Amino acid sequence: MNIFQEQIVRLLSDLVPLEPEQIKEDLEIPPNLELGNYAFPCFKLAKVHKAAPGLIAARLAEKVPADPLLEKVVANGPYLNFFLNKARLAQHTVGEVLQQKEEYGKSDVGKGRTVVIDFSAPNIAKPFGIGHLRSTIIGNSLYKIHAALGYKCIGINYIGDWGTQFGKLITAYHHWGDEAVLAQNPINHLYELYVRFHREAELDPGLEDGARNWFKKLEDGDPHAVELWQHFRDISLAELKRVYARLGVKFDYWHGESFYNEMMEDTIKAVEESGLLEQSQGAWIVSLEDEGMPPCLLRKQDGATLYATRDLTAAIYRYNTWQFAKALYVVGVDQTLYFRQLFAVLKKMGMQWVERCQHIPFGMIRFEGGKMSTRQGSLIFLDDVLSEAIGRAREIIAEKNPCLPDQEEVARQVGVGALIFGDLSNDRIKDVDFSWDQVMDFSGETAPYIQYAHARICSILRKAPAEAECNLSLLVNEHEYALVSVLSKFPEAIARAGETCKPSFVARYLIDVAKEFSRFYHQCPVLNAESDVRGARLALIDAVRQVLANGLSLLGIAAPEEM
Ligand code: ARG
Repeated sequence: MNIFQEQIVRLLSDLVPLEPEQIKEDLEIPPNLELGNYAFPCFKLAKVHKAAPGLIAARLAEKVPADPLLEKVVANGPYLNFFLNKARLAQHTVGEVLQQKEEYGKSDVGKGRTVVIDFSAPNIAKPFGIGHLRSTIIGNSLYKIHAALGYKCIGINYIGDWGTQFGKLITAYHHWGDEAVLAQNPINHLYELYVRFHREAELDPGLEDGARNWFKKLEDGDPHAVELWQHFRDISLAELKRVYARLGVKFDYWHGESFYNEMMEDTIKAVEESGLLEQSQGAWIVSLEDEGMPPCLLRKQDGATLYATRDLTAAIYRYNTWQFAKALYVVGVDQTLYFRQLFAVLKKMGMQWVERCQHIPFGMIRFEGGKMSTRQGSLIFLDDVLSEAIGRAREIIAEKNPCLPDQEEVARQVGVGALIFGDLSNDRIKDVDFSWDQVMDFSGETAPYIQYAHARICSILRKAPAEAECNLSLLVNEHEYALVSVLSKFPEAIARAGETCKPSFVARYLIDVAKEFSRFYHQCPVLNAESDVRGARLALIDAVRQVLANGLSLLGIAAPEEM
């Protein structure tokens, strides 16, 4: 709570029969500034007093005493609207941003609590999908948002480095593999083998048997199978790490599925001891009939384990290791049923902490047709997508600002930023129609638009004379006030994004800030203003710059000083 909210709660708690906690919770932020900065709904009081909420609001409006932090308090239908003192709001907000700098917007609600975030998680033996790109972008941002809220974050790339697909890959490699091609372009070659296996297996079902055998051998530790697997894994990881570096994403742990191999027997034993393991057609399952779901398969007829066996093991390992307050699984909406099954099994096993596990689903991205790097349906080569993004940014920069120093790095920041923001500005659960022209539009609701506002402020600040003192209470005209108000809402935007696990709240917020800035800048001269006003406005735009940079960094996007 900021000092204004605190004061409003204090004033109200003298007047209404509600606890301060309750008042604080009920206090709303109206949809626009014409309705004030905060609104207190009177419906609850109406019940207590058996009177119309509008009447209660009107009576309260008369009773709230004058206060230096408030300009006025007005009843509006069932709401009591609070208008803050503009000078005090400007002093407080801009002062706070400039003092706290990178820390502005952060809080410590998560202090002492750990959140484990399972994100990205591509499969080594299969191509990197669009779903993995979204998971990477969303998970990375959720990591940063939770860190800003004071949580200790554990980011895990649960790479798919185990499972029947490795049997397929080994089989395919024996038939059509090429050592040299593999070394040169591992992801592509493994992908070709993967595609070829599926094509040929339609004509020759024997291939599937071979694949099953190889995976079984792998699980039993056959040296040749293990050696090939290790080789595929090593080269793929090296390639993936290179691509993540381009994207600017890091993980704390690379505990892939294979990390849990040695622990899986214990998991199956624990399931058995809970009396949940049943045999069905030779396989071992946990029935979820009572939950209205298909059974969860833990061991196949031939003894091989499954995706769910590994996830169960991973969840237990993570809880035992970190005692998380939250465990987030950033995985496409198509795995919703799977996670419900997984959590149901953990619950049946008596793991109370399963309540803390959450599937964070997201919809699909459809890339525009034409010259896009989706070679097959929903498959993409992340490296190609990045090159496309950076290439487009490079072209725009060469045209707009040919003398810019360090163009290549700025092109990376702008291109990657556009890609990330094109995802995160949408509610994650919705499908996204991705268009390059749209996400790169410098005047649209895009990362380049926000980055450009940031760079523009940096350039104004470079030209500004050093100001001795500045009087922030001068920032009270309508444009200054609108800009100050939006800056004051940054902490709420982060909190909201964290609570809902939706980075879009931060992304949309940044659009509001950038738009408000451009309205302000259009109407109010900065460098050419009278000296005391100039000082205050320079401080204001410096605060805007800081909030834009802080917000972009929560999305995993850089804020270049020039572009
Ligand atoms: N590798 C999986 C896939 O591509 C995603 C893993 C998600 N995380 C998890 N714990 N299951 O479908």
